[in-house]
Parts: sequence; C-alpha cells; structure tokens
Amino acid sequence: MEENGAGKSLKKYAKEMRLSKSSVLDKVQIRQGSWFEPLEDVKGKLTGLVSNPPYIPSRNLPGLQAEVGRYEPKLALDGGESGMDHLIHLCEGSVSYLKPGGFFAFETNGDEQSEFLVDFMVSKLENSFRDVKAVADFAGIKRFVTGFCS
Ligand SMILES: C[S@@+](CC[C@H](N)C(=O)[O-])C[C@H]1O[C@@H](n2cnc3c(N)ncnc32)[C@H](O)[C@@H]1O
Repeated sequence: MEENGAGKSLKKYAKEMRLSKSSVLDKVQIRQGSWFEPLEDVKGKLTGLVSNPPYIPSRNLPGLQAEVGRYEPKLALDGGESGMDHLIHLCEGSVSYLKPGGFFAFETNGDEQSEFLVDFMVSKLENSFRDVKAVADFAGIKRFVTGFCS
C-alpha cells in the first residue's frame, strides 16, 4: 500500500476498528485519481467494477434536500447536464478495464437513468456486455444497472 494520504487514513481507520493489519490492509490497495486514470496497469484484468458516481443533473442541484445539497461537495453530486456524464464514462471504460466475464454494478438516479443506461450498453456498446439489466432498490425504483463484460 502506498504511503499517501488515503493509505494513512485507512491504516488509522483499521486501527480504530481494532482490525489486525493482515486482516484487511494486506488485501486492499488504494489508488487515487480520476476514475480509470490510476488503473492503467490493470486494464483488461478487473474482475468487477462497482460505483456510485455523481448522477444528479446540474440544474437539480439547488433543489436538493438540505442535508444533501448543503453538506455534500458539488464534486460528489454533479453529473453534468443530464446527470449521466460520469455514468457514461464508466460504462465506456468498463469495456476495456474489465476482463471477459467481469461484472459491473452502477448506481443511478433512478428509473429514467437506469433505462437509458441499459439501452446505451446494449445498443451503443454492442456485443461488449451481456445480461445487462436495471435492478430495483427496496422502494421499487430501478436504481442500479448490472451486467457482465462479454
Ligand atoms: C454520490 S458520491 C458517492 C460516495 C460514496 N461512494 C457513497 O456511496 O456514499 C460520488 C463520489 O464520486 C466521487 N468522484 C467524483 N468525480 C470523480 C472522479 N473524476 N473520479 C473518481 N471519483 C470521483 C466523489 O468524490 C464522490 O465521493
């Protein structure tokens, strides 16, 4: 593990949780950077990709519940004009970073975004993925998109 800021805070966290060093820290590697940037050396080798990226359309940010809009930084919420900027980037990147059979699971803003993403992955990224589907959360909202790399 690198001795960068993130690595140090994980060590501190593990200590606080009274986890032995070998139980977690030997199995976890922290890499810092924008999306796929720090993963160049594992391109085509990833078994799975799970992400809850920013997905709120920019115009909706001012209307968010106070506990979200006031305390979360814009970087954590703003998904661009349609809210899909990061989700599309992650879907496109999955094609080259997952190994064949590798799985992905992305959280979205709900029904409309999930349906768009399923269609995008099936029709625009033709033959790159299989078993792509929208999965509902406990409130019945199609919240997640999951599937496998072909
Ligand atoms: C909706 S929050 C999710 C936070 C956390 N995963 C969770 O479930 O509570 C979106 C996260 O994406 C991160 N993020 C935004 N732009 C990013 C980028 N270019 N590369 C990597 N992470 C990014 C933000 O820092 C934020 O932590």
